[in-house]
Amino acid sequence: MMTSTPTALTTLQNKRVLLGLCGGIAAYKAAELCRLLVGAGAEVQVVMTKGAQEFITPLTMQALSGQPVHTELLDPAAEAAMGHIQLARWADLILVAPASANFMARLAHGEASDLLTAVCLARRSPLALAPAMNQAMWSNATTMANLGLLESAGVLMFGPASGAQACGDVGPGRLLEPSELLQLCAMQFATGALAGKKVVITAGPTREAIDPVRYLSNHSSGKMGYAVAAAAIEAGAEVVLISGPTGLPVPDRCQLVPVTSALDMLAACESHPADIFIAVAAVADYRVARPAAAKIKKSAEELTLNLVRNPDILATIAGSKPRPFCVGFAAETEHLADYAKEKLRSKKLDMIFANDAIATFGNDAASITAYWPGGETTFEPQSKAQLARRMIALISQRSSTTDA
Ligand code: C5P
Repeated sequence: MMTSTPTALTTLQNKRVLLGLCGGIAAYKAAELCRLLVGAGAEVQVVMTKGAQEFITPLTMQALSGQPVHTELLDPAAEAAMGHIQLARWADLILVAPASANFMARLAHGEASDLLTAVCLARRSPLALAPAMNQAMWSNATTMANLGLLESAGVLMFGPASGAQACGDVGPGRLLEPSELLQLCAMQFATGALAGKKVVITAGPTREAIDPVRYLSNHSSGKMGYAVAAAAIEAGAEVVLISGPTGLPVPDRCQLVPVTSALDMLAACESHPADIFIAVAAVADYRVARPAAAKIKKSAEELTLNLVRNPDILATIAGSKPRPFCVGFAAETEHLADYAKEKLRSKKLDMIFANDAIATFGNDAASITAYWPGGETTFEPQSKAQLARRMIALISQRSSTTDA
């Protein structure tokens, strides 16, 4: 059953859809589909085969997507060149609409003879095909065999629909309507894996006052925590984001609890019980024992600050009863795996994500390894938004096995 347009409007927001076009009379419908995807908030890049360009011009698709259209596997125009690997990495979803019989055949047999097949072969995201062809071509045993190969490789099939065809035939092979394709795209992101769960996430740095105008802090940007919050919302969770100062835009549909110091953050965490607690914040380990009530004036050559340990928020929540499923982060500059496993054990966590502190802070792309009692997995470098979705999928899967 199709969901309503508002679903498409929310789940496609900021998603990266790579729209591939093959040759066929239905290619004109891809223009409307592109417009709908962009209207729903998706970022769209278009790849066209030579055949597609016989039916609709790259200029049309460029105007509608607002991005240069990609047509060549070996593109000499440097500013337009985004190699097939980068395009494949970029996409959250690849949709080929219309997908021709020829394209299906080439894809089914692992060909990478043009840009679109090469991108599909290098894909890291879900790939969906919306076939459009004459009904006899669709029903042909070879096309059916190719369909079987593609489906067993995990390729999603959107359609085809049945009905009157441009050639006068009646039967299966019509491209689904653009509005139906839009809904199917939206449904790929409406995972609902955390529906009904309350997820509390800490993010950003903390600031520990020295006096009324100065503080101790760190370089955490908050981007990872905010991306995790957005991914948890996307997965249907009720999200409370307890954040130190970041200046980042707050993800839609999430309750922000702004805090400053580690002690504020702990108090906020304790007053928001959760099913899943994800500590992404870079909490200051120490605070000034007695912050000055007035601005410290410079006089002596040396100034000594007396620091005391801050409470470990994550370990405190993990030790509470009833306790949520607890997830930590370990940003390290060396001995990543050893330190992460040690924190998993000593803080009594259900899972920990470890990354390289220097490569990660403030950057948009990062790789990460997850450890849990008895297992681990590494996610390749990708954008923080994409990483966050994979992390949330793993948390959702592990927390439901731990519940059971
Ligand atoms: O001990 P370390 O700071 O490396 O541990 C990192 C993990 O513990 C992160 O998940 C961080 O959010 C959390 N943490 C915390 N409270 C602290 C220190 C760290 O929640 N005081």
